[in-house]
Amino acid sequence: MHWPAFPAEPAGRRYVEAMVTVVTHPLLQHKLSLMRDVQTGVKEFRELASEVSLLLAYEAMRDLELSPHRLTTPLVEADFPMLSGKKLALVAILRAGLVMTDAIVDLVPAAKVGHIGLYRDPQSLLPVAYYNKLPADIAERRVFLTDPMLATGGSASAAIQSLKDAGAQSIKLMSILAAPEGIAVIERDHPDVEIVVAAVDSHLNDHGYIVPGLGDAGDRIYGTK
Ligand code: URA
Repeated sequence: MHWPAFPAEPAGRRYVEAMVTVVTHPLLQHKLSLMRDVQTGVKEFRELASEVSLLLAYEAMRDLELSPHRLTTPLVEADFPMLSGKKLALVAILRAGLVMTDAIVDLVPAAKVGHIGLYRDPQSLLPVAYYNKLPADIAERRVFLTDPMLATGGSASAAIQSLKDAGAQSIKLMSILAAPEGIAVIERDHPDVEIVVAAVDSHLNDHGYIVPGLGDAGDRIYGTK
């Protein structure tokens, strides 16, 4: 895996490739390209975001534990693999992460769902939590945190810290797009957290947008501007 060159990155900065999984499946990449297209309207964008989220979850959950369960088919009784191990929690960073958890919960309907809302303080520019509702037993669950755009990494890092403060021990971050800067922040602040993305783009622009990116994910999902 070769990361795209990012000229603003200080010389010598490296990404820990093991912590980032880029899901290169052709179906997902095709849908991501449609999401990038400025001509794609709200309805289609939302549907694509859901589909991409499902495909990301498929990969992010590849290491879920299975154990044999005795079942009877119409023909025989035998052992078959079924999910075991820790239960799951999906946690959305509001608001754009909602579309991802809403899609993924169809795949894992027994998962509990939490929400974290953050805004950026205009003075300090630091993320401040305005909403935090997590499953009470989050410490016993594997957590999949959703944030479609891992841009500066500030919100995702703060959300991961909230999860850890609540006792979460196993966290994966799922993003549709990431910038190298965001990955570097998560790597620095939370080296134990794996990241699953559909693509790592070139860089952030001066307004904090991922380039080439897909624009403001929340606005494109909800039709706001
Ligand atoms: N958030 C978005 O929605 N888009 C970006 O490009 C960066 C942050």
